[in-house]
Amino acid sequence: MGKRIIFFDTTLRDGEQSPGCSMNNKEKLQMAKQLEKLNVDFIEAGFAASSPGDFESVKSIAEGIKNSGVAVLARAVKNDIDKGWEAVKNAVNPRIHTFIATSDIHMKYKLKMDPEDVIKRAEEMVSYAAGFAPEVEFSAEDATRSEPAFLARIFDKVIQAGAKVINIPDTVGYTTPDEFYNFINEIKIRSDYLDKAIISVHCHNDLGLGVANTLAAARAGATQFECTINGIGERAGNAALEELVMILDTRRDLYNCDFGINTREIMKTSNLLTMITGVHVQPNKAIVGANAFAHESGIHQHGMLSHENTYEIMKPETIGLSKSKMVLGKHSGRHAFKERLETLGYELTKEELNIAFEQFKDLADKKKQVYDRDIEAIVAKRAIELTE
Ligand code: KIV
Ligand code: ZN
Repeated sequence: MGKRIIFFDTTLRDGEQSPGCSMNNKEKLQMAKQLEKLNVDFIEAGFAASSPGDFESVKSIAEGIKNSGVAVLARAVKNDIDKGWEAVKNAVNPRIHTFIATSDIHMKYKLKMDPEDVIKRAEEMVSYAAGFAPEVEFSAEDATRSEPAFLARIFDKVIQAGAKVINIPDTVGYTTPDEFYNFINEIKIRSDYLDKAIISVHCHNDLGLGVANTLAAARAGATQFECTINGIGERAGNAALEELVMILDTRRDLYNCDFGINTREIMKTSNLLTMITGVHVQPNKAIVGANAFAHESGIHQHGMLSHENTYEIMKPETIGLSKSKMVLGKHSGRHAFKERLETLGYELTKEELNIAFEQFKDLADKKKQVYDRDIEAIVAKRAIELTE
């Protein structure tokens, strides 16, 4: 096996910052539990200092999640770090993720700080956080529009102050794969300490390059990928977790990377997020779009019937979709419905099945086809109702 990639999921922090995607405490906890099943290495649970509600969400996620690390975002200011630590400290594996902007435009117009003071602040705040948190991650906001020499200096300082993870965000989705690869290599050449830290990247998707840039960074030595389910996030979103995972899985010949994600939970996680936020993914979205494994044209169907590999590079079961392409609709009976539920991994009691079947029939009357995602939404909705 090659190098191990750490999947740092920020659906509940950066993802939640996208328009229409805010979640209440209960929804965030439900989503965090599903991310734990997906086996992400880290869940960034929120920005505790941003609101009392987010503080409570981070706290309950930190206390409820056992098998993934839990991170909290904090600006490089004492109050944020204190609130963040208070919220995250009970996690099995807590992390403080602190950040400050490093590009000229951000330092001059947003922070109104001198670059030397930015370095000093970063160093002091990392040292402060490392005084109590076992793991501190430092992010240089707007890194890709910052000077590599300046980044190397600030990274060396914060690593010496205790940062174990150095994140290089493409905050505004500005870079391109070749440029990002060279940029990271240049910082590495200029830095004396970067090889002592984990290099992380956090790529936004403004030019549709979030995933491609993340992969280019991996070639340059990044081993932590920051990403979100369905690619949600500020503006055009973040690199999509499901795409990164399935690229590493499908193209092992190119990347030879190991990772801990349980790919069979991908579809369930994507559907749960859609159900909670009400924000749907486009049908042709890679991996989790409704059409990603659908075959429409006669030529393709004929090819598929002869051999699955003619038009499918991944098996639908790998991401937790049922293998069967049987279409469920208003003429389908309870038996077919129950069978599909079982294929999707659900075991319902007789009473739960009756209720779910009734909802399925109602839905089937309203649409041409009932997809697996609809069935999962029916079950998940019921699960929420039972906890209310
Ligand atoms: O995009 C960004 O720069 C961020 C940082 C806070 C990591 O979200
Ligand atoms: Zn971001």
